[in-house]
Amino acid sequence: LIGEASDELGVDSYVIGGFVRDYFLKRNTPKDIDIVAIGSGIELAKKVASKLKGKPEISVFKNFGTAMIKHKDLELEFVGARKESYNRDSRKPIVEDGTLEDDQNRRDFTINAMALALNESNFGELLDPFDGLADLDRKIIRTPLEPGITYSDDPLRMMRAVRFATQLHFTIELQSLRAITENKDRIKIVSKERIVDELHKILMSSKPSVGFKLMHQTELLPLILPELTALQGIEEKEGQRHKDNFWHTLEVVDNIAETTDNLWLRWAALLHDIGKAPTKKFHEKIGWTFHAHEFVGAKMVYKLFKRLRMPLNEKMKFVQKMVLMSSRPIILSEDHVTDSAVRRLVFDAGDSVEDLMTLCEADITTKNPRKQKKYKNN
Ligand code: CTP
Repeated sequence: LIGEASDELGVDSYVIGGFVRDYFLKRNTPKDIDIVAIGSGIELAKKVASKLKGKPEISVFKNFGTAMIKHKDLELEFVGARKESYNRDSRKPIVEDGTLEDDQNRRDFTINAMALALNESNFGELLDPFDGLADLDRKIIRTPLEPGITYSDDPLRMMRAVRFATQLHFTIELQSLRAITENKDRIKIVSKERIVDELHKILMSSKPSVGFKLMHQTELLPLILPELTALQGIEEKEGQRHKDNFWHTLEVVDNIAETTDNLWLRWAALLHDIGKAPTKKFHEKIGWTFHAHEFVGAKMVYKLFKRLRMPLNEKMKFVQKMVLMSSRPIILSEDHVTDSAVRRLVFDAGDSVEDLMTLCEADITTKNPRKQKKYKNN
């Protein structure tokens, strides 16, 4: 039908981006479909809407030259092919009309730059100038242009590369990894909301540790979640060592991803030990301690959510609560809790108890058998 509308208007149109990628990956049915018109995207959207039954809702964004049709469960996004150039200090491109090739050049990854023709004369023809199909096959994240340009133009793409690698179990090409490290500081021009969106997607994938390891490797992690980076490393004093709480955390996150789809419980797993970096102390008699790290950690959760502009709502409190109790859910008693804000949280566990036990299970499975036994007995 879109092809028919395009033919009637005398424009060429293509479906492009995530839909094409997921079609070849046989990934679940898409919700967003991006259509590029070599001409006006808005005119094409209007024509398509007039042909659809039930007069679908159409939203026109004149300033951006885009239009969106909501049809059943689908969102059809229409845009005219464009050429983009960027300023150093903004993710917002300067846009001019362009060819399909210009439009494919401006895209983030080869696997997201493939287009399928919709006009009758060439319906279904794949336009794949950067060999995206081969990259899907080789499971590689690669940029169409020189990676330094792609990431510097739009630094959100550094997070997208990590996210796609995690979701799709792909490898980020070496030059791309290097370019991400070189451009890491440009992440500061990306809004916190977009970064958090990507973090959510990484956390919701089947093995979130992949994403956090990549962020660690490319040095993005200390710029986004310095609390986690601070957990990395093992110190030794007088022959006593403590565990590396960063790698431990990643194990816990992978474990919990196997048992729950609750995003906030996954966040809690990620943050459950963050209080350990600032509370770490060495005592001659008892060795390494992290006294009251749960309480410090719960306070850090608040600050972290605030810094990342995540809503300071019930979800945040839930994460705090989990962090507070994850290390020793049973032995907490009123005597242990001196801080009044923290006290309110502890004695309000209520219906979170099951979630708490899920988190503890994910944690103890990475610990030694002696500790597992102690927890189970408790
Ligand atoms: N795109 C891009 N650079 C970005 C964001 C998007 O080049 N920073 C392009 C890509 O071609 C992408 C398309 O716009 O495929 C659509 O983007 P989006 O809807 O955000 O992502 P999808 O690729 O569709 O994937 P998902 O729905 O999983 O986010």
